[in-house]
Amino acid sequence: MAYNKRFDGRKFDEVREMEAKVGIIPRAEGSAMFRTGKTVAIAAVYGPRGVFPAFLQNPKEGRLKCVYDLLSFSVTERKRPGPSRRSTEISMVTEDSLKPVLDLTKFSYLGVDVYVYITQADAGTRAAGINAAALALADAGMSMKDLITSIAVGKVSDKIVVDLDKDEEDHEDGATDLPMAMSTRTGEITLLQMDGNMTQKEIKEAVEMGMKACLDIKKVQVEALKAKYKGAGK
Ligand code: CDP
Repeated sequence: MAYNKRFDGRKFDEVREMEAKVGIIPRAEGSAMFRTGKTVAIAAVYGPRGVFPAFLQNPKEGRLKCVYDLLSFSVTERKRPGPSRRSTEISMVTEDSLKPVLDLTKFSYLGVDVYVYITQADAGTRAAGINAAALALADAGMSMKDLITSIAVGKVSDKIVVDLDKDEEDHEDGATDLPMAMSTRTGEITLLQMDGNMTQKEIKEAVEMGMKACLDIKKVQVEALKAKYKGAGK
């Protein structure tokens, strides 16, 4: 069936209301919250610190470790606590999304650990987690070429849409979901996954829509960093 109007009234290329804040966890080296609609992610960065077991230490550069977890009560149907295939996959793609902008060469033998927790889930959690993690790394003062900005785009019935919520993801037999992440400064895409079916033309349209959305999301991220340092040095 044609999907002519989005359930929550948004335009097809409109993201949900977004909010970001850095420095939310004083004990962490860096931390951030990123929210899109009802999806909320928090991220905390610890390190550089020792890496154990020692065989994982790299003399050439520091090791980035990302751990993603969806908390039990973040979803309507309680999620069994602990790691899963899904969380292992999302931890890995989070790491791969962030690594290209990070300079870890100063941290030989050491590790930087990023913990991403989804406290409330309404689809798009890996994108929200990556946005929070990038902010937390910047808040930790890590040397970075750029922030990483992430969004999920997809296809609901016959329409390409940006930032799907759970109602849209579950519509009919399930939407096609295409999470992506990029450096808006260099244009490099560091995450591109797809769950579902789209034609080549639709993928192109979706990615272009996602890239446009990332420019706006980046503004939300930058504002959050600026807000922390407002008034500093006065
Ligand atoms: O969250 P994301 O879209 O990146 O990944 P997903 O694996 O496609 O999950 C889609 C959504 O399903 C999540 O955002 C949650 O809202 C929901 N979900 C859930 O309700 N229970 C789970 N155990 C896993 C996901």
